[in-house]
Formats: sequence, structure tokens, C-alpha cells
Amino acid sequence: MAKARSTYFCQNCGFESAKWLGKCPSCDQWNTFVEEVIEKTASKVPDWRTEKSSNRTSKAAAIHSIVYKEEARLQTPDKELNRVLGGGIVPGSLTLIGGEPGIGKSTLMLQLALTMPKLKILYVSGEESEQQLKMRAERIKQSSQASCYILTETATQNIFKQIEQVEPELVIIDSIQTLHSAHIDSSPGSVSQVRECTAELLRFAKESGTPVFIIGHITKEGSIAGPKVLEHMVDTVLQFEGDRHHVYRILRAVKNRFGSSSELGIYEMQGAGLREVSNPSEILLSHRESTTLTGISIASMLEGARPMLIEVQALVSTSAYGTPQRSATGFDARRMNMLLAVLEKRFGFRLSIQDVFLNIAGGLRVEDPAIDLAVIMAIISSQQDIPIPSGVVFAGEVGLSGEIRAINRVDQRIAEAEKLGFEKIYISKYNSKGLDISRYKIEIVPLSKVEELFQQLFG
Ligand code: TYD
Ligand code: MG
Repeated sequence: MAKARSTYFCQNCGFESAKWLGKCPSCDQWNTFVEEVIEKTASKVPDWRTEKSSNRTSKAAAIHSIVYKEEARLQTPDKELNRVLGGGIVPGSLTLIGGEPGIGKSTLMLQLALTMPKLKILYVSGEESEQQLKMRAERIKQSSQASCYILTETATQNIFKQIEQVEPELVIIDSIQTLHSAHIDSSPGSVSQVRECTAELLRFAKESGTPVFIIGHITKEGSIAGPKVLEHMVDTVLQFEGDRHHVYRILRAVKNRFGSSSELGIYEMQGAGLREVSNPSEILLSHRESTTLTGISIASMLEGARPMLIEVQALVSTSAYGTPQRSATGFDARRMNMLLAVLEKRFGFRLSIQDVFLNIAGGLRVEDPAIDLAVIMAIISSQQDIPIPSGVVFAGEVGLSGEIRAINRVDQRIAEAEKLGFEKIYISKYNSKGLDISRYKIEIVPLSKVEELFQQLFG
């Protein structure tokens, strides 16, 4: 019997230390060290690693002598997922899907398993029973001809045994936090277990060429539970996010060795599973027919590399109490305060005695500075009680002196506005250089100052 050995791990970054530390020397976080017992059983348990890789020797090869053949990516029926993965699933890749509990990770993966009839898929669940999974599959209603196998197991050694029997072409692990390996003595979900199980799955994926998806939970702080090391080990990290009270979900590539990390996919959670949303602008622009409403403007923004139009709503009203209220949903409150200060100081709008409420429609959280212009216009439209004409889109960042600053990928934003039938887009003058305005049907108005825009729209 080997002697029990314990180490301390930082729960934030996975830093390992022989003794307890108050502050992590690696990530500078306080009070993150937890003791974990790791007792290496003198590897009697057969596993993927001991069986396969011990008799293999590797040699250095000149790069020009390496024959590279474009490996066929597996196309899934889910176009949003293909897009986020960079064009399909790469053979032998390890993908981590992170997200808060209840966001829909299991639903997304089970749906994938049920919609690929030609592929043998093993869905390993440590969280739900077979009956529960069957119930969910019934709900998604695609369980007819799929060759999907369900395994409810948490010991990695048993999982690999089943893999050898079933010989799946794709493996899905429903939650790495429930797995445990016999090589390590600490409890499931601890840093060392999560790390060891991921390493075993990684070896399996690389040596067998079978793609593996791993579901991982997310901590309160928003990072994937277990350490950052997990993110280093896998090829692709996808984040499934969204407001649980809204139906829209965003699947975002945080890291991708085989594609762009600025891609994202959008889904809608329905009663019968997730539905792909291929044209997000249409759902985000809710009530466009109401042309007489004030305080509403449309912005052309980019989420990752994907352009979409969103509605910005503002309400400015006389403050009933001494201190005016400021509230922003889906937009940075500090940035809103800065824009309000610009309006007050540069253009003399008396906003400091008024309540200002700002809302981004659709429950989205926007960080793109290009929506500044739409935010300012919605606020002034509400304050002056003048509606913004329908068919108008804004795309520009606003600086501290009230200038309209250039933004990135302006042509994509213009194209999106044009595609959705808008008539006019206001952009920065500095963006119009090198832009072939005659190419677009939509009218493009380049401006350098916010007051020019006020004159054009509000007189
Ligand atoms: P789930 O996939 O279990 O989330 P996770 O694995 O990320 O914890 O999804 C749970 C939520 O999704 C649950 O609140 C119910 C909802 N849901 C639907 O709205 N429609 C459906 O068809 C399914 C299967 C789930
Ligand atoms: Mg789940």
C-alpha cells in the first residue's frame, strides 16, 4: 500500500504546491489553495496510456518531409456548431463545452448525438440516469434511427473498457467534474481528478483519432470549474452562455486550434430542444413597426466576427427624488455614465437632473463600442421626445470630445444593415476612407461629430 501523499492546488489556476499558501504565486489570488490527497496506485490498473503508448517511440522529423493530408472534418447537421468549430469536427480533437448549470449543455450534446444517424456515438453521463436521458431524448424527438449509445459511468477505466467494446466514432462526456480515475485518490471534481481524467481522454482522442466532447461546469466567477490547465490541454474551448430567463443562447469559441476564436453560434431554447438561429438580427429587432416611439435606435454591432443589428432602448424622465437614477441592462453602466457626461458637458443636455434607463433588447450583453452612437441617439430621442426615423442604423464609437470614432469591420456592418432592408446608416467619417460607397444600395452617411447627427435628425 502506497503512502498517502497530499498536495495543495490553487482552485483558480491549478498551481501545485507542497504546502498551503495564502496567496497563489502564479495567479495572485488569495485563499484559493485546497488540500488534495493524491495517492498513485502503483499502476496495476490497465488504461489507455499504459497499454498503447509505452511501446511507441517518437523520432524528430524535418517539417518538409511530413505529409499533411487535409483531414476530412465531420460535418454535423447543426450549422451553428459547425461554424463555431471552424467548419466541422476535427478527427482526434478534444473539445470542452463550458457553461452554467441549466444553460443547455447536455441538451446540445444529446441533440448532436441524436441527429447524426450515420455515426456511432457514445454518450457517457455521470449526472443523469438512462431513464432521464431517454426522457430528454423523447423530448427532443429525434431518437428514431440514431446509433447513439448511452453509458452511465464515472470511472474512466470502465469508460475506456466500454469504448473498446462499442468502438464509437464520437465520444461525449457529460461532465468532466463527475469522472474519476483510479490513478488518483482525490474526490471527483477536484483539480487533480479533473486534470487526470482530461489527460486520459486527451491521450485516447489523439491516439485513436476519435473526437471527444467534454462538458464542464462553470464556477460563479465565470471560469471553467477546475483549473485553467484544462483549457490548455484541450484543442477547443466552447462557452455556452446566455441569460437563463431569456430563450437565446450563445455558443462562443473561446479557444480554437482549428479555426477562428471569434466565431459564435446562436440558439433558441424551445420546448423540444435547441433550435439554430441563422439570422439573429430578425429576432433581436422586436417591434420595428412602432415608428412613433421615442427612445429607440438600432445599432449595427459585431458579436465576435458576426454582424447583427440590435435595438437600443432608452427612457429619460424627470427625477422624482434628489439623486437621479441610472440603470443599464446589457450595457456597461460606466460607459453609459461617460456618454451621459459627454452629452451634458459638450452639448448642454441637462441630463444630470433626470433618470436614465438603458436596455439592450433581447437579453444580450454588448461590449462592442460601436453601439455608442445608437445609445446616445436613443437617450436624446427619449429626452427630446422626438422619434428616430425607422430604417436608420447607427455604427460608431463616441469619444470624450463628442467625436464619432472609427470602428472595425465597417463593411460587414453596412452589409448586414443593407441585407435587412434598412435605408440609411450613420458611420464615422474616418471609416469612409477606402470604402466604396457606390457599391451599396443603402445610403451611407459619414459624420465626424455628434452635433452634425443631432442637426440631421432632430433639427
Ligand atoms: P440542460 O441541457 O440540462 O442544461 P445543462 O446540462 O447545461 O445543465 O438544460 C436544462 C434546461 O433546458 C432546463 O431548464 C430545461 C430546458 N429545456 C428546454 O427548455 N427544452 C428542452 O427540450 C430541453 C431538453 C430542456
Ligand atoms: Mg447537464
